[in-house]
Amino acid sequence: MPVRDLTAQDFVTYKTMSSGAFGGSYDPSSAAAPQDFSPGETAIGIDASALPGGLDGVIAAGARIRHDQIALGGGLVRCGGVAGLVVHPAHRGDGLFGTLLTAVIARCAAEGMAVSMLYPSHPALYRRYGYQVVARGQSLIVPLVDLQRIPAVPHRRLVPVTADSMPRLRDLYHRLSADDNGMLRREPPLFADGLPGAGWSALLLQDESGTDHGYLSWTRRREDPHGVGLDVHELLGRTRSDRLALLRSLGSWSTVTELVRLRVRTEDPVLDALPGAGARPSPEPAPLVMTRVIDTAATLRARRAPEQLAGSIRLVVEDSTVPEGDCRAAGSFLVSAHSGTIAAEPEGGGSAGLLGTVRLDIHAASLLLMGGRSLADARRLDLTAAADPAAETFLDALLAGPRPSVMDAF
Ligand SMILES: CC(C)(COP(=O)(O)OP(=O)(O)OC[C@H]1O[C@@H](n2cnc3c(N)ncnc32)[C@H](O)[C@@H]1OP(=O)(O)O)[C@@H](O)C(=O)NCCC(=O)NCCS
Repeated sequence: MPVRDLTAQDFVTYKTMSSGAFGGSYDPSSAAAPQDFSPGETAIGIDASALPGGLDGVIAAGARIRHDQIALGGGLVRCGGVAGLVVHPAHRGDGLFGTLLTAVIARCAAEGMAVSMLYPSHPALYRRYGYQVVARGQSLIVPLVDLQRIPAVPHRRLVPVTADSMPRLRDLYHRLSADDNGMLRREPPLFADGLPGAGWSALLLQDESGTDHGYLSWTRRREDPHGVGLDVHELLGRTRSDRLALLRSLGSWSTVTELVRLRVRTEDPVLDALPGAGARPSPEPAPLVMTRVIDTAATLRARRAPEQLAGSIRLVVEDSTVPEGDCRAAGSFLVSAHSGTIAAEPEGGGSAGLLGTVRLDIHAASLLLMGGRSLADARRLDLTAAADPAAETFLDALLAGPRPSVMDAF
């Protein structure tokens, strides 16, 4: 079944179908309505006319692939974020989903992306094609009474973020998320350069010389039925006392609202700075994040290795979820670490001196190469992760780090 690129001429048809599926309100006649795909994404789809009884001018299925970069193991990798995957109601139940998602995976590979990421409405459907749940969006409800007694932090002051200082916030975000796994780099054109607008506000935390040490961003909202009057998008500080200074600033909102919703990363260091025990998970469903390895060698090469780690292993990745050659996840690779860098190449002889072999199925590879998990974690999920003991110790050390976190939904 032919899958083709969708172009500006297809945009209104695709957007009408996707907003119909996801409950958006797209009115192409409105002056503000977008008329074309973002230059930061590739859109592909299937014409209904290619299907039995399908009408001309109807798109039977479509999806957008975002061109993002994400932080991974101290480096950056190109990531294809799958958004707006939809099958026309007239063509559901005929197997188009698998055709389209397989084409998405192949296209990510053709575009040089090392991993793909998505927010599934139905994880089991994506799991069949090698996507693995690696994170979930998390928010805490924090009572402001917990934050009111935080003492002032010396040598720190707060300044409002303006259009002029927004680049400094973005720079801080890059630096403070550089050692995370999975955080989007937030680059144009998918992320605009200026202030986000729509009530978004932020403060930078500085020292006396004007050097930035953290920031807090939020949107004030009318209190929801749970009594939450402030959505805190990000609270990122360089040190624990920087995070305390930002939490103290949050406490100042206690005269107008009792609770804030604080979006956090997986095992966010802010949890260690919260002075009270009253925080609880937000009652809204936490969206799942799934990722899939597209190019095993590129995913590994992008990372930094621990400085002291040295050695080589054979890594075999098995992937029966997409046709062979559609992407570069499967194969046998030689993976070495030396002086903080990683070499990873398809195996082509010369395998003397290896610590041993690690064998992963695509699910285990998609889980483990995002970092922060061990081979034992993969086995606990009943994924295939078999290894010679020394090779397992090596790969676990190579991939150690924080569990993945993603703070941008798409
Ligand atoms: C979800 C959706 C993409 C599935 O597309 P489709 O072409 O109808 O799916 P297929 O016919 O290829 O079916 C693939 C499998 O998914 C299953 N499936 C399809 N829709 C499902 C649903 N709503 N719930 C559970 N399983 C579903 C099918 O039973 C099939 O499984 P099987 O192979 O074991 O029979 C389509 O229903 C749709 O566009 N829904 C609205 C938008 C949406 O949810 N997009 C996904 C966003 S992440």
